[in-house]
Amino acid sequence: MDIKSVIAQMTLEEKASLLSGLDFWHTKPVERLGIPSVMVSDGPHGLRKQDDQADHLGVNESIKAVCMPTACASAASFDRDVLRQIGEAVGDACQHERVAVNLGPAVNIKRSPLCGRNFEYFSEDPYLAAELATSIVKGIQSRNIGVSVKHFAANSQENRRMSSDSIVDERTLREIYYPAFESAVKDGRAWTVMCSYNRLNGEYASQHRQLLTDLLRGEWGFDGYVVSDWGAVSDRVKGVHAGLDLEMPASGGTNDKRVVDAVRAGQLDEKDVDLAVERILTIHQRYLDNARPDTPWDMEAQHQLSRRLAAECMVLLKNEDGVLPIRSGEKIAVIGKFAREPRFQGGGSSHINCFRIESLMDALEGTEGVAYAQGYDIVTEEPDEALIAEAVEAARKADKAVIIAGLPDAFESEGYDRTHMRMPKCQVELIRRVSQANENTIVVLYNGSPVEMPWIGCAKAVIEGYLGGQAVGGATKDVLFGDVNPCGRLPESFPHQLEDNPSYLTYGGEGDVAVYSEGVFVGYRYYDRKKMDVLFPFGYGLSYTTFAYSNLRLSAQSITDQDELTVSVDVTNTGAAAGKEVVQLYVGDRESTVFRPVRELKGFEKIFLEPGETKTVTFTLGKRAFAYWNVQLHDWHVESGVFAIEIGRSSRDIALSCEVSVSSTTEIPVRFTVDSIFDDLMKSPKAMAKLAPLIDSVKRSMGFGGESEAASAAISNEMMEAMIRYMPLRTVGSFSGGAMSYDQLSALVDAINEA
Ligand code: BGC
Repeated sequence: MDIKSVIAQMTLEEKASLLSGLDFWHTKPVERLGIPSVMVSDGPHGLRKQDDQADHLGVNESIKAVCMPTACASAASFDRDVLRQIGEAVGDACQHERVAVNLGPAVNIKRSPLCGRNFEYFSEDPYLAAELATSIVKGIQSRNIGVSVKHFAANSQENRRMSSDSIVDERTLREIYYPAFESAVKDGRAWTVMCSYNRLNGEYASQHRQLLTDLLRGEWGFDGYVVSDWGAVSDRVKGVHAGLDLEMPASGGTNDKRVVDAVRAGQLDEKDVDLAVERILTIHQRYLDNARPDTPWDMEAQHQLSRRLAAECMVLLKNEDGVLPIRSGEKIAVIGKFAREPRFQGGGSSHINCFRIESLMDALEGTEGVAYAQGYDIVTEEPDEALIAEAVEAARKADKAVIIAGLPDAFESEGYDRTHMRMPKCQVELIRRVSQANENTIVVLYNGSPVEMPWIGCAKAVIEGYLGGQAVGGATKDVLFGDVNPCGRLPESFPHQLEDNPSYLTYGGEGDVAVYSEGVFVGYRYYDRKKMDVLFPFGYGLSYTTFAYSNLRLSAQSITDQDELTVSVDVTNTGAAAGKEVVQLYVGDRESTVFRPVRELKGFEKIFLEPGETKTVTFTLGKRAFAYWNVQLHDWHVESGVFAIEIGRSSRDIALSCEVSVSSTTEIPVRFTVDSIFDDLMKSPKAMAKLAPLIDSVKRSMGFGGESEAASAAISNEMMEAMIRYMPLRTVGSFSGGAMSYDQLSALVDAINEA
């Protein structure tokens, strides 16, 4: 199809009709011109394809599909390849089911543990989120299925999600909230982007031209279409001009008519309409040219894949006395409703109708020496004495007690935020009581977001399983018994208590105003700067083996911000089991004129090592690894100086570190005025060339270096120096007794600026 010539043949009404959906999941056709309707469907940890009675809240059944580990879990793999494989599996399902675009990944930043959709999001860290998002994008699109990177942008809460206004400063957006989108677009070449429901700094994302056109297309080179989140459109005409191409779902024709009327009334340029149509048809065609409904969808094979990948995502948080792995022949009591009915995905639009669910008890079928007790119920938070007694009894008779706990569905979901970080009371009580009966108590958690663990001292081992997809039970068994050596790492900090979280004071907003007041200090960027103790830090996770780091080396001791720096480190498996280690590289600016985090993740690699084996891991760092967003330049900027290069097991466990000196090639232009203070002027050689004599005379006139004892006792030279530093240039006029007039000073400033 020659898209431009097809558009030329279309009436304005036909064009406008293409800018909104036919129904919940389909775009409109224009049969006269051979333009078909295509289908989009939710994901991205599986395919949620609905047919007839479409709704988007997960109430109506969708077709049977396979649920892979959800984003909270897959992020814990710290493994780009895991995300790529999930993407490929979902892409195959979409091809098989004639779905052109899978509506994911959701890449918003985990600003608070309370966000109801955290289970769909990757991380509190923008680099990790960006790398993983880009990998799943590449995986899905390798099957010629489009993605929709969502929810663009700054949509980190569910509270009043369709009206709230995220107030976020420019630097924070660039450094924290944009990078995952930026990378998915620039490196992943995402076919579509979904704008969010919320407003950003006063304007709905769905009609935010700066966001959807200037940034997304102008700067990042996005060439696909922007689709609205379902129902996110406020002013459709404004939206078309802003760069919102496709409104979903259907608008019942009303917005199509508004678009037509606006063009006729001269309020909207028809070229904007043409452009949106062209983008939509381009993406349709990209899919249609490569549609392969004969692609096999082997659900059983995908189930096995889901199990393998879920095991890669589990994070071993604690393992005292090597209580894990469970050895063969040991009697175990498996306790908890989730051992039979696992929680493995979250509620809302990403909910998959699984063709099969594998619980831990399913996976243990046929294993000798396993007893089961339910322990708690999920319909109530209140402890049930009978259930607890039964669990305690089972635990007493076993060598080890494994409690499968976590958050019930009602605790976290799309559409609302949590109000606290606690686990249900009945589970906390159960863990306490079981651990009194059996000192080898192991807790496995299935939850989408961090929880407080007041019971942590009761458990010898803890595994964070997150929401691991439909085969989570099999994966749990593999890790518990050591068939898989745990290798997940926390993609987010676990604070001791909710109140420690940096967004705690303002999260959720006042009415519709949600000020992201902690700025760039999200997650570990805050905890590390504050030196605040956390329950488990970002990047943390144990293994059944141990790893040693050595030989950290850099390709250069000093570079410019245009150079690349290569960092290498040797990693050795010093334990007895084969296993995977996640090598994390952090960069920190030792001294900076802007507030910066102590360290920021700028590289990670997951490697497999046999016992005794050593591998060299190499990272390449470019300008972005050292830069912050400069709001004067509106660009990335590296301040000259010394940077720490740290190799860590987590943000709190730095194994090796060294320094590199980086020099900036960009000068930040400064323009002085008579209101400029001496402190700033004195940093500028060209200003000092003209001002040195003047400063001396100011010092003299203020008695600087005076011999009078009384004067020096009352005010030291240092104090005087400091006072002068913060004086504006214009004060010279008054302090010099009229020797320098305001006009003379103005002329001096002009001369400095022109020098
Ligand atoms: C969600 C999106 C989802 C869409 C379609 C919205 O409510 O925010 O993530 O893709 O519905 O189901």
